Amino acid sequence: MTDYKPVRKAVFPVAGLGTRFLPATKSIPKEMLTILDKPVIQYAVDEARNAGIEHFVFVTGRNKAVIEDHFDIQVELQQTLEERGKQEALDILSAALPAPGQTSFTRQQAPLGLGHAVWCAREIVGDEPFALLLPDMVMQDEPGCLTSMTRLYKNTGGNIISTEEIAWEETQNYGIVERGEDVNGGFEVKGMVEKPPKGTAPSNLYINGRYILQPEIFDLLGSQKAGAGGEIQLTDAMLKLSASQPFYGFTFRGRTFDCGSKEGFIRANVAYAMSNPEFAGSLRSELLELINSAPAK
Ligand code: G1P
Repeated sequence: MTDYKPVRKAVFPVAGLGTRFLPATKSIPKEMLTILDKPVIQYAVDEARNAGIEHFVFVTGRNKAVIEDHFDIQVELQQTLEERGKQEALDILSAALPAPGQTSFTRQQAPLGLGHAVWCAREIVGDEPFALLLPDMVMQDEPGCLTSMTRLYKNTGGNIISTEEIAWEETQNYGIVERGEDVNGGFEVKGMVEKPPKGTAPSNLYINGRYILQPEIFDLLGSQKAGAGGEIQLTDAMLKLSASQPFYGFTFRGRTFDCGSKEGFIRANVAYAMSNPEFAGSLRSELLELINSAPAK
């Protein structure tokens, strides 16, 4: 056990345009596309809530108002369901909803990068550690990734980054960490780099979109210059913070779906359907049939 302040707040950057899903995302935020019956954003919020998070901070952008509506009560719908005695549907709605006062919404006014989006949450987070969940990364595990990270954090304090192994040829698309000594169920992070050019990655451990960070990151983000892709990168600010604070890596062992890509989104839908007894049986034979009839690559 170490001295640590509990993590009560979580930040969800949801300002991205979702151009890879046009035309679907012309009027619907990509975070509202559904995996089975829940929007992508709900998976990250549920994961955070299961990890004990009490306040949910959304960093939004233009055309994202429907996310705020999703986390509010829909009075007419609720009344109609009550009149019709649809208790099951009412329960589904209330399970999705944070308690009154548990959500905050702020806007990233310009698309300057993930680091800038996180910085936009500084006033709402204040001077306490916080979790950061990138909702595009849908993580299937029991308990959730953030719950496991919180357990590690209770042993280590400091900052925690969730990581996973990835194929070496994919390293250029993600933040990559360099692994140090094992500590308390995690490992020391010796270095990190955002989207290293091909062939230069220090490891194949990629940052998979879950973090526990100390509030000192905000000052560094405020003065952070643009990095990879011309954007203000969170990874660059974390590297600076690691000069004065410990960073630990958590190794995630569940399944991660990068739902910012069509392939990841499809894989997530299939995986969640297959882990749902309502669909698993009938889908199994249909999937096998499809696989057998698909043209060989
Ligand atoms: C961001 C982070 C990167 C991380 C990735 C996970 O990149 O900057 O370090 O590996 O999310 O999805 P982005 O996907 O915004 O380019």
